[in-house]
Formats: sequence, C-alpha cells, structure tokens
Amino acid sequence: MTLYITSLVFFLFINGTLQVKNRSSKVADRCFCKLNGEIDDCSCKVETLSVLNNNKIYPRIKSLLSRNYFRYFKVNLKKKCPFWHDDSRCALKDCHVDTCKEEEIPSAIKKGSSAYRYSEEAQKEESCAEEKELSALNTTISDESIQAFKDWKEHDESQDLFCDIDDESSADSEYVDLLLNPERYTGYKGESPHRIWRSIYQENCFKPQTEYIYGPSKSSSPLCLEKRAFHRLISGLHTSINIHLCADYLYQENLGYGMKAHWKPNVAEFQKRFDPQTSNGEGPQRLKNLFFTYLVELRAIAKAAPYLQEEDFFTADSDEDKDVRQGIDDLLNIISTFPDHFDESKLFAGNPNEAKLLKDEFRNHFRNVSRIMDCVGCDKCKLWGKLQTQGMGTALKILFSGDDIGPDSTVNAQQKKHFQLTRSEIVTLFNAFGRLSKSIHSLEMFKSLLSKS
Ligand SMILES: *[C@@H]1O[C@H](CO)[C@@H](O)[C@H](O)[C@H]1NC(C)=O
Ligand SMILES: *[C@@H]1O[C@H](CO)[C@@H](O)[C@H](O)[C@H]1NC(C)=O
Ligand SMILES: *[C@@H]1O[C@H](CO)[C@@H](O)[C@H](O)[C@H]1NC(C)=O
Repeated sequence: MTLYITSLVFFLFINGTLQVKNRSSKVADRCFCKLNGEIDDCSCKVETLSVLNNNKIYPRIKSLLSRNYFRYFKVNLKKKCPFWHDDSRCALKDCHVDTCKEEEIPSAIKKGSSAYRYSEEAQKEESCAEEKELSALNTTISDESIQAFKDWKEHDESQDLFCDIDDESSADSEYVDLLLNPERYTGYKGESPHRIWRSIYQENCFKPQTEYIYGPSKSSSPLCLEKRAFHRLISGLHTSINIHLCADYLYQENLGYGMKAHWKPNVAEFQKRFDPQTSNGEGPQRLKNLFFTYLVELRAIAKAAPYLQEEDFFTADSDEDKDVRQGIDDLLNIISTFPDHFDESKLFAGNPNEAKLLKDEFRNHFRNVSRIMDCVGCDKCKLWGKLQTQGMGTALKILFSGDDIGPDSTVNAQQKKHFQLTRSEIVTLFNAFGRLSKSIHSLEMFKSLLSKS
C-alpha cells in the first residue's frame, strides 16, 4: 500500500500540478475507454445500463438488502477445502501459536520496547494479528433474531423444497449478519488469494492456453459463445470484488496510542488494476465484463419475476414482509422496463446432444468454482466469495432450468417438479446482484476521482 501511495506522490511531484491534471484525466479516459457502446455478445449499451443502475436500481436494491430477509445469510464456513491445505499467510500453522504468545506478552512490552517492535518476528506477529482481526467475522446476532430464525425454519420446512445448496441443514451452517460484515479490504493478500483466482481461471474457465489471465484472451483461438460467456461471468465477478476492495480500502491512522483502521477509496489501487498501462492492456475489458455479469443476473431476476411475485419473503413480521414485497414489486417493475435484456436462449442452442454435453460441462465447472471458495483463507472473504458464487449459481439455475418460471411451471415435466427457489437462493441472488450494482455505482466515483485527483 505504501508503495502505491509513494508512487502516486512521486508522480505528482515529477509532473507538476498543471500537467498532472491533464495526465490524470487521460488516466480516466484510459481506464474507462471501453465503457461505452455495446457490451460484447449483447445488444445493450454500457451507458444505458449505467444510468438505469445508478439512478433506479441501485437505490432500491440497497434499501431491500438492509431488510431482515436479505441481511441474514446462512452459510457453512467450516467446509474443508477439497483441493489443497489452507496456505493463507495467517493460517493456523503460521499464526495460531504466535497469536497465543502475543496475548501473553504484556502490552507495555509489546508497544514500549523498540527491540521487540523492530524484530522481524514481532512485526510478522503484529501484521498477522491485524490481518486476523480484519478478516474475522462479527457473528453477533440479537436474541430477537435467533428467535425469529426458529420461525423461519418452521416456515421454510413447510415449503416442500427439493434442493439444498451448501448443505444448509448441516450443523456447521450458521446465520451471518451481512450488514455487520461488509465486504471490504481485509489485508488478505499474497499467494493464497492468487492461488484461488489462478485455480479458477486456469482449471475452470475453459482456457485454451495455460497462461494466467483475467479477461478473454486476445491471442487464443476463439472460444464458443458459451465458454466465452462463462469466462466473462467469472471475470466480471473478479472485477466486482476488486472494485469493492479498492472502494473500501484499508487505511491506518496513528492515534498516538495505537492504530485505528478506517476504510475509503484508493484511487491508485483502482488505477493499478484497470489502467491498460498497468494491467497488460486488460483493465478496460475487465470493467466491461462486470457489465456482462450484471446483465446476466439482471436477466435472471427478470425471468424469475413471476415466481418472486408469489414469494412471501417470510420473516414472521407481517409489516416488514409486506414492505419487502412492495419493494420487490417496485424493483421488478423497473427491471421489466429495461428493453435490452441478455438473451439466454442463444446459449446452448446448437445440436441438442452437444448442447446437453456443453451444459453439463458448464455446470460442473461452475460447481467446481464454488467449491474452490471453500479454500479461501480469510473468513470474511470466504463469506462474500461463497455468497456471490451461490448467487451466480442461482441466476444460472433460473436461466437454464428449462421451462418458464411461474406458479404452475414445471422444471422437468417427467418429474413433475415445480420450479422452486430456497430462501438461501433468493438471498444470495439479490445480494450477489446488489454487489454488482454497487460496483457499477462505484465506477462513477472512481471516474470523477481519477479525473480530478
Ligand atoms: C492540457 O494540455 C494541453 C496541451 O497538451 C493544454 O493546451 C491544456 O490547457 C491543458 N489542460 C489543462 C486543464 O491543464
Ligand atoms: C459486533 O457488532 C456489534 C453490533 O454492532 C457490536 O456491538 C460489537 O462490538 C461487534 N463486535 C466486534 C468483535 O466487533
Ligand atoms: C476442480 O478444480 C480443482 C482445483 O482447481 C482441479 O484440480 C480439478 O481438476 C477441477 N475439476 C474439474 C472437474 O474441473
């Protein structure tokens, strides 16, 4: 972090104020150069979508997500990583013992003795302790909510649901209050998160070559529409997560008696990730992929509208439930006025046998991506990673389940199963979409910060 700040200051110093203004606005142009015109493989324009999102959708979804129905997410964060051992910098093997030791050190010694403070061990210990603190979840849930969850459970069990994602019923699944645990920069960095993304891209994105890249490659042989879509979806999610980390970046303030963490936008970090000059030319495409992912989830919500309009959004508080239903109706109305929805019927439209194989492959790859999320070495990052991949999974389920979705629809005519969504699927779908909506909203902020910094 210091490095970016230093280089920014250096940049300002070298170039002088007048030129910097010019250079900076060019940075904004460079980062956002692709953010106009049509979104690849779709007929709608980035500008139209930005305006719709920032003016109409974002304020509504933000308000909905603060409601009890959407703020509590039941998740199992204790699932073992099926692919490798936890290698995060502050994983048990590196840090646990140290942390215990640290607690035993009198605070006077910890802070007072410069010999201790400047030893490498001590610094590592301190930064691990800090990383652990920042990535820890606040699992506080009010007694009232705990009582309400019992009613939720009773209600949900009476709903005759047929699918169970992330073994919601497992004893290890717990409700987490999403408002108490916002997605933001936690200090989780280094090899562990790189490995997560590398695995997702390399092994699960139908990449024709092995090189680790972010957006659709320019050099590789062309991928079919479906594989391109898959790749773009993942890249859009990655972009969105990075925008949140840049928008809520960690800064430490020295209060004299200790450090206080606070979070605010980090323009240099944003530029580093999205300026073509520092991102191997790929930054603008990454931003465009965010719009693609947004369009896909927007379409899923639009398609599920007949189903969602029948949903009671039960929280055992009838006034609250009524408000939420009104908020949902309002949002669905806005979404239905959007003329250029993503057209999922173009996917898997070829020869039926090939399409089926492709669909299975698509599903398996996606399932694997969601399992990789169990390998994330920071609880808060894992929480949001799981939530967003589950939400995307729900969107794909809605788009590719087959029949029309409504009270009388059947997913599979032979099995006579009605289309259904669990509470968790609805919660993750809206929260995942809300994250994308927030990212697009944040782009305006970065654009103006970049052009006037
Ligand atoms: C930007 O640079 C151009 C010349 O390259 C100059 O004419 C213009 O006044 C500069 N604008 C600002 C706002 O500094
Ligand atoms: C968790 O959140 C509650 C409610 O905001 C707050 O009172 C509590 O201090 C928090 N706990 C931690 C460990 O931050
Ligand atoms: C799933 O991902 C893991 C880890 O990246 C990889 O080893 C495995 O081959 C993948 N399996 C499938 C079916 O994609």
